[in-house]
Amino acid sequence: MSMATTLPAAARRGAVPEMVDGFGRSIEYLRISVTDKCNLRCVYCMPEEGLPWLRKSEILDYEEIAEIVRVMAGMGLKRLRLTGGEPLVRKDLPRLVAMLSRIPGIENIALSTNAVLLAPVAAALKEAGVDRVNISLDSLRPERADVIARRPGTLARVLAGLDAAQAVGFDPIKINVVLMRGENDDEIADFAELARDRPFHVRFIEVMPTESNLELSASNFLSCDEALEAVRQVGSLEPVPGPPGNGPARYFSFPNARGTIGVITPMSHNFCDRCNRMRLTADGQLRPCLFGTIQTPLRDPLRQGGDIRPLIRHTLRIKPEKHLLVQGSSEGSGGLIALSQTGG
Ligand code: 5AD
Ligand code: SF4
Repeated sequence: MSMATTLPAAARRGAVPEMVDGFGRSIEYLRISVTDKCNLRCVYCMPEEGLPWLRKSEILDYEEIAEIVRVMAGMGLKRLRLTGGEPLVRKDLPRLVAMLSRIPGIENIALSTNAVLLAPVAAALKEAGVDRVNISLDSLRPERADVIARRPGTLARVLAGLDAAQAVGFDPIKINVVLMRGENDDEIADFAELARDRPFHVRFIEVMPTESNLELSASNFLSCDEALEAVRQVGSLEPVPGPPGNGPARYFSFPNARGTIGVITPMSHNFCDRCNRMRLTADGQLRPCLFGTIQTPLRDPLRQGGDIRPLIRHTLRIKPEKHLLVQGSSEGSGGLIALSQTGG
């Protein structure tokens, strides 16, 4: 029997899904960092003074991002998330979304934002093709939210962004809460009540060590198991399938709650065996893992008019089995200063 007849129909048409890594994981999800800059300075994420920002010429333009996605979609990529830094500080993001949503094979586009700039553009983003949003919010108390974000007036603007997201019909809406002992651990019950009373999916995230947050990630670490204990003081929790998404969160719910409570446990329960993603940095590095030093520059080959498919295949092949983070140490982070450099 010839090869042609033993291959499945899709492969004979040349559409064999190529987005599979060396460990057999299907990599159909790309997180695209559209900028390294941010309008906040969250204590676990960025140093107060900021980072050595990329120059404009180093950053992929929207046409280049769309071209990379078009190539990967032809290889089996299906879902996208726009991240940063803060994606909404980049000019005219709805224009990029509209370009991406027209690419054949792309089924879903999500956005991760701090929501400070969301309210005025929520409708335009929805219209352009954003399907769902994740919003970072680490405290429901105004003074504290400002201290954590190191910017005044943060909470009111984020809440306005959340309301706008709900008003224009984003569904699901997820809220990411990075757990910090001594900073927001006394608000876990408040966040749980928010997920009970409003249609929000609140996800508690264990803080991951990077070069710029070593002190905090070592001294203020709080596991999701401890957070769930605090949530159980509010009411009994049932495991539930959770909202649609791409990620490693495990979800729970109170009876009759409008939202759910999720936990993301990069430190206490490794989930790399289910990894489904790669990352594209603002300057066009394709990163197979959030941590570690492996990255493949796509920008210059693309600008020189080369075929980037071999580079994508190569990056898939060398995607690591798992991250090697060690709690309380920068070991395994690959020298990453902040998660904003790779899109979180
Ligand atoms: N550890 C855990 N989560 C982090 N984020 C940013 N930096 C860290 C870190 N060091 C989160 C943000 C946002 C998401 C994109 O990543 O809060 O919700
Ligand atoms: Fe900005 Fe998000 Fe980092 Fe906060 S966590 S500084 S909002 S990129």
